[in-house]
Amino acid sequence: MSAHIIGTGAFVPEQVVTNIDLQRLVDTNDEWIVSRTGIRERRIAEPGQSCSMLGVEAAKRALEDAKVAATDVTHVLVATFSPDAYIPSTAYILREKLGIPRGMAMDVSAACTGFLFALETARAFVALHPEAVVLVVGSEVVSSRLNWEDRGTCVLFGDGAGAVVVTGKPSHGSAEVMDVLLDGDGSLSDLLVVRGGGSATPMKLGQAVAEDFFVQMQGREIFKHAVRSMAAICQRILEKNGLTSSDIDLVVPHQANIRIIESLAGRLDLPMDKVFVNIEKYGNTSAASIPLALAEAREKALIPPGSKVMLTAFGGGLNWAAALLQY
Ligand code: COA
Repeated sequence: MSAHIIGTGAFVPEQVVTNIDLQRLVDTNDEWIVSRTGIRERRIAEPGQSCSMLGVEAAKRALEDAKVAATDVTHVLVATFSPDAYIPSTAYILREKLGIPRGMAMDVSAACTGFLFALETARAFVALHPEAVVLVVGSEVVSSRLNWEDRGTCVLFGDGAGAVVVTGKPSHGSAEVMDVLLDGDGSLSDLLVVRGGGSATPMKLGQAVAEDFFVQMQGREIFKHAVRSMAAICQRILEKNGLTSSDIDLVVPHQANIRIIESLAGRLDLPMDKVFVNIEKYGNTSAASIPLALAEAREKALIPPGSKVMLTAFGGGLNWAAALLQY
């Protein structure tokens, strides 16, 4: 049973935080951030604007695009590392807010690669249950887990959400999910962590949060692994499907750093005009990055019928993934 993306949607909070704004918080400057990352501004949620709140808005747009009523959704997956709470899952909160009356809901934890892990899970649901209507959301309020005194991380990330609807039946303008490959290496997990508050590093009542409550990262190491592993998994998925990069009309990569994206394009021998980039506006929105970019690429009519689109992501775990879509 093939799986099809029949709708996409995205939502970002209103508040724009520019690099100039960040100069007031940490010892940084616009030139450094733009030249090292490609990021000019990012959206940051208002206090109280949670992961489910962003996700609901993206999901409504995806459902509208798919012409599917919320009451027809059978499965909800939310990829995030910044959930509303430990319990309940953000997927159940989002389900309630959307008025989805039945079916399962769960969060998927794979950091920036989470959306592709959730997409593959959706494909499995559709294979098992041909009538499934799976809502797949990537939503992040990364700002809630950023140390705003650490210039090595706080300038890189932003908040946002993207969503897709996956079913067994194609419709006008839909994309068949041809293949998804997921991979990772736990021995590299120390390179990107959010440890504090987990059961291995529990918090005590009244205790103030420490630096380990926030994203901690070895940027340079991450950079190298990101380029290598995304290029390798893209090559693998192309070969597995009897394709080469010249068959791909558009790559929608995880938006972590423009230099990572450019190196990836170089390794795949793809010109940058075949690579979708919106990092300058949003920064790294983690699990939201790919569905947000995919929705924007469709809105800009960059994906006409017949297009082959490759998605690829990389994130804390470490893990990485690629997917092929046939529009
Ligand atoms: N503003 C100004 N200077 C900064 C800075 C900032 N925001 N952040 C770091 N620096 C400084 C460093 O302190 C260092 O100074 P030093 O030479 O005096 O020690 C200098 O800039 C170079 O730091 P370095 O870490 O070597 O820079 P880099 O070229 O590797 O760029 C990143 C840093 C984080 C932009 C880059 O490594 C990166 O993007 N890595 C991938 C991170 C990522 O995408 N993670 C998420 C994956 S999903």
